[in-house]
Amino acid sequence: MSRLVVISNRVAVPKARGAAGAQGGLAGALNSALKQNGGIWFGWSGQETDTFTGNINVQRSEGVTTATIDLEQADVEEYYNGYANSTLWPLFHYRIDLTEYEQEFGRGYERVNERFAQSVLPLIEPEDTVWVHDYHLMPLGERLRSRGVKNRIGFFLHIPWPPTRLFVSLPFHQRLVRAMLHYDLIGFQTTEWLESFLHYCERELGATVDHEDCVVELDGRKTVAKAYPIGVDYDHFVAQGQTIAAKTAYRRLCDSSRTRTAMIGVDRLDYSKGLPERMDGIGRFFDTYPDRVKDLLFIQIAPPSREDIGSYQKIRTMLEQKTGQINGARSDVDLVPIRYVNRGYSMAELFGFYRAAKIGLVTPLRDGMNLVAKEYVAAQDPEDPGVLVLSRFAGAALQMGEALLVNPYSPDDVAHNIRLALDMSLAERKARWEQLIVTVRDDNVLRWTDNFITDLEGTTEPAVG
Ligand code: F6P
Repeated sequence: MSRLVVISNRVAVPKARGAAGAQGGLAGALNSALKQNGGIWFGWSGQETDTFTGNINVQRSEGVTTATIDLEQADVEEYYNGYANSTLWPLFHYRIDLTEYEQEFGRGYERVNERFAQSVLPLIEPEDTVWVHDYHLMPLGERLRSRGVKNRIGFFLHIPWPPTRLFVSLPFHQRLVRAMLHYDLIGFQTTEWLESFLHYCERELGATVDHEDCVVELDGRKTVAKAYPIGVDYDHFVAQGQTIAAKTAYRRLCDSSRTRTAMIGVDRLDYSKGLPERMDGIGRFFDTYPDRVKDLLFIQIAPPSREDIGSYQKIRTMLEQKTGQINGARSDVDLVPIRYVNRGYSMAELFGFYRAAKIGLVTPLRDGMNLVAKEYVAAQDPEDPGVLVLSRFAGAALQMGEALLVNPYSPDDVAHNIRLALDMSLAERKARWEQLIVTVRDDNVLRWTDNFITDLEGTTEPAVG
């Protein structure tokens, strides 16, 4: 296997490792992939500088070499907060109502992709395999090709691909996808997102699509596009369960929930995660089954995310109001139904919390995959497993049909399934979990990396030209 050059917006620089599991699956997954394969991980340092220098900061720790650049304040504003997270993110999560189309955002996005290409170029050696990640860097492959890079270059999208009718509202949509077709291999989380992409290529670009072999051909260049559902680093995650931190976290939650069943949600504070809608479902549960208030304790861990963006500030305020209303209406001097926490925890602590919680509530309105659902299952006690309540709109639902699948927009459906989970017999919990754990254990992140890299290296010829 050739050396891997991984490129993503955010890089889990060594000092940041072990931070919140809910901060997004990408960083953890790439860390595991690089540890296994060796190579370099290139991206933004997360720091701002007055003037872009292109200076690369190289660090090596725990078998992973990271190379990062700083960006200018305007880059962060227009590329990261702007085009990536105020244009592409909402649009790709079907939130056209929140999507902003600003000219400067598009310019910032182009500029930063240029900066990435220019900076990473000297690090790429002729035999390397290059793997670009996520919506921040969709045109990067083309930028590298225009600088003469002939290596195999793959791209993986960690978020959904929207239906064509939504996607065409993006100005210059054709330019973006034409640029993507300079990759040799494009990976999606599920067949649903893959099919939307292929549909777009056929309908809007007039590309020839071979649906059997998943090849898109345009202007004489061929790109393979396939689904590769991402998984958790199963062995590493399960080993966390043996740590003192995990055991302490487990005890803390068991002891403090006393006779109540703990139900947990762990999400970045993002509107795609459906947190206010989740609170509506919990409120409906308490309204419908008032005598069960004493039976349930809900813990929502929600580390703030992308805090400079207005839509994120609004969702936080809305969530705080709803949580406050439910707690105000349903609390007693010795009972508070919801514990709402704005901070992240280490993997080990999350393992302990997941294991102590007998219900995992994962109800995004739209999600590329959702690794919290898989982590929750991985952390369960085989002799007394908890129940996963999962949104049918998470990519993970396609692999995890033995969970209780819900419509996150329906408070009644969420409430009903919380009750089913609370009252589920041990035999049924075990039967469901025994099915779920097979997918979580076997379709893990190492298999995901192997499958993608093997296919990338097997593509017939680099999509140069
Ligand atoms: O998985 C989607 C993703 O946007 C990743 O690319 C990212 O690292 C993660 O969510 C967290 O988002 P951010 O890097 O904006 O904090």
